Amino acid sequence: MPSQGNNLLQEFEHFLQSHLPDAPSFHPTYNLALKEMFIAGGKRFRPLMLLEVVESYEPQLVQNAFWVAAAIEMLHTYSLIHDDLPTFDDSKLRRGHPTLHTTYDEVTATLIGDALNSHSFLMITNAPLVDKVKIILIKELSQNGGTDGMVLGQAIDCYFEDKKLTIDELTFLHIHKTAKLIAASMKMGAIIVGLEKKTEDLLYDIGLNIGLLFQVQDDIIDATFTSDEAGKPTNNDNSKNSFTNLLGVDGAESEKQKLISKIETQIDQLGPVLKKRLLTSINIYFK
Ligand code: IPE
Ligand code: IPE
Ligand code: MG
Ligand code: MG
Ligand code: MG
Repeated sequence: MPSQGNNLLQEFEHFLQSHLPDAPSFHPTYNLALKEMFIAGGKRFRPLMLLEVVESYEPQLVQNAFWVAAAIEMLHTYSLIHDDLPTFDDSKLRRGHPTLHTTYDEVTATLIGDALNSHSFLMITNAPLVDKVKIILIKELSQNGGTDGMVLGQAIDCYFEDKKLTIDELTFLHIHKTAKLIAASMKMGAIIVGLEKKTEDLLYDIGLNIGLLFQVQDDIIDATFTSDEAGKPTNNDNSKNSFTNLLGVDGAESEKQKLISKIETQIDQLGPVLKKRLLTSINIYFK
């Protein structure tokens, strides 16, 4: 767990755990299953990216932003629950915890994913922010997490299993399945604090590169970590289009270094507070 942003992440964690979706009924397991993957843990990388932007410019808005950071974490968690289903990656472990379809069944896991997807938008509508800002946030999350974002990435990832993509196609896949949501997290932080369009766009671009870096690293983790270290099955990408499969571990490592240099150059254009925070986070997560 990173030391920087530790207070911020601890406070966010407290917020998240006390704002989990809650739907009591006579269903014996539904309400527990709704909360289970948040209790299991996770790096909370996307919330951190959003909150670092907000805290760098308008620290007094951090509490209001927690709702939006939680919304993104909920959408991300839904994507993981579906990603682990037998019809996707067929994974038994997530965040060091048995996956929902393993503990319960596929119907439960599918429906909990569906519920978290819609609940994430409800979280934004409930945020203590002005309506106009909330509509723009909903648009960003929907565009980057949905049809032309994460979902398209997952569709390409699954459709082209066992069919080799070019490096450009693989980059397109990673941009969609992972980078767009991370870029949206940074842009949504900028929207909350009302930064000018130019900075919003710059943060989105930096976020795309950080997201690409994140997925390249995730591919390296699959190829080089034990399942215990990763908290999820590894060596699971053998028939996937991953950076390690296309370029080898060394090739993926050098891609990672190239991305880090590119991001460091882009970050130079930001104000000193956010620049320092992002550089520290990159050091903690990627070096
Ligand atoms: C895993 O995401 C899926 C990818 C997009 C690479 P994370 O590595 O952020 O998973 P958690 O949230 O920490 O469990
Ligand atoms: C999943 O990518 C990305 C999502 C949008 C969920 P992976 O399949 O590589 O994620 P892990 O390795 O299972 O966490
Ligand atoms: Mg997958
Ligand atoms: Mg997977
Ligand atoms: Mg992976």
